[in-house]
Formats: sequence, C-alpha cells, structure tokens
Amino acid sequence: MKFFLLSIFLFTSLLGSCQTKPEASVEKTREESERILIVYLSRTKNTKAVAEMIHREVGGDLVELKLVTPYPENYRAIVDQVARENESGYLPPLKTKIPDVASYEIVFVGFPTWGMQLPPPMKSFLNQVDLSGKTVIPFNTNAGYGIGSSFETVKELCPNSTILEGYYTKGGIERDGVLYVMEGEKEKQVLEEIRVWLDKLSF
Ligand SMILES: Cc1cc2nc3c(=O)[nH]c(=O)nc-3n(C[C@H](O)[C@H](O)[C@H](O)COP(=O)(O)O)c2cc1C
Repeated sequence: MKFFLLSIFLFTSLLGSCQTKPEASVEKTREESERILIVYLSRTKNTKAVAEMIHREVGGDLVELKLVTPYPENYRAIVDQVARENESGYLPPLKTKIPDVASYEIVFVGFPTWGMQLPPPMKSFLNQVDLSGKTVIPFNTNAGYGIGSSFETVKELCPNSTILEGYYTKGGIERDGVLYVMEGEKEKQVLEEIRVWLDKLSF
C-alpha cells in the first residue's frame, strides 16, 4: 500500500513538472524573435547553393534577385556588359519585388564577385531599399580572385545598418568552363565553414 501511494505521488509530481514551463524555455532565441531575409544574386548557382545552406541553418525568407532584362548567356557578353554598367554606375531594374522589407531585422545579402565589384543588380537592390537600423550580413562566391570591393560597397550602400562579418568562398570559374562546384567535398567544406561562421555571429 505504502509503495502504491508513493508511486501515485511520484507520478503526479512528475506530471506537474512536465506541465510547468520553466522561465528560460519561454525566452525566444535569435531565430525565433527576429525576422530573417536572405537575398541573393546567382548566375551559375554557386551563390544560390550557399544561400540555401544559410537558409537551412537560420530559416527566414529566401529570395533570388531577378532582372527585368536578364543578362546575356554568353560569358564574354556579360563580362563586357557588367564592365560598362560598373563604369557608368547604371543600376539595372529588378523584376524581384520583396514585400515589406521593413519587417525584417536581419538581412543576408549574397552575390558573386563581378569585375572585382558588387554586381550591378545587388547595387540596384541596396539602392532601392532602406535597411537603416537593420543587421546586414554579406556572403559571396568568386573565381578565386576574392571579394574585391564588394563588401566595402555593401557598407557604403547601407550606411545606417550594422554590418556583420561576411563569408566568402571560391565558386566557379566560368571563364575556364568551370560552372557549378558546390557538390561532394566542396559542399561539405562550405557547410562546415558556414556553421562555424554563423555560430560566431550567434545564430
Ligand atoms: C560577369 C562576371 C564577372 C566576374 N568577375 C569576377 C571577378 O572579378 N573576380 C572573381 O574572382 N570572379 C569573377 N567572376 C566569377 C564568379 O564570381 C564566380 O564564378 C562565382 O562563383 C559565380 O557565382 P554564381 O554561380 O552564384 O553565379 C565573374 C563572373 C562573371 C559572370
């Protein structure tokens, strides 16, 4: 009988402890409380793959930037066009419209290096939205020549945002016919680096 009563007591107190939520578990994590937007530009899908990995890790909304008038398929033709646009400061009109950008607190911006600069479509995007007071985090893929001035331009175009440390990795080398590289060992390595980077930024 004693044992029976003890069992009932233990069972009901266990039930009670499962029902009461300790204060700590009600606290929201960064991901739950802050709306995240991941915007990216990608031609041969390397930056897209990185954007998708970040998305899988942190959640939020993932949006690809598309142009009203797409760039030419031909590599030489796009290189020449981008060089002209970078020279003149032309901002190509975007087909992508993101409703309610103001509602996001954290905005990841991803892009390849083009002509050692931020690609014109990302310049268009950052020119047309107001990211004041938000946290902006750049990421990039390139052919091995680096980010050039791209991260610096993100800072200039978001003067009232908090810019966190960006991530970049070597992607394709379209000039040499190397297009998509985010598979196998490379994919694993990038995912590992992204996790370390996001951890550092406390995601
Ligand atoms: C128009 C154009 C210009 C490029 N300029 C550079 C450059 O200056 N430096 C560099 O390292 N890679 C350059 N690249 C290579 C891309 O940055 C690289 O292939 C990147 O991984 C492509 O990303 P995506 O697959 O998301 O389009 C250029 C590619 C294109 C299409």
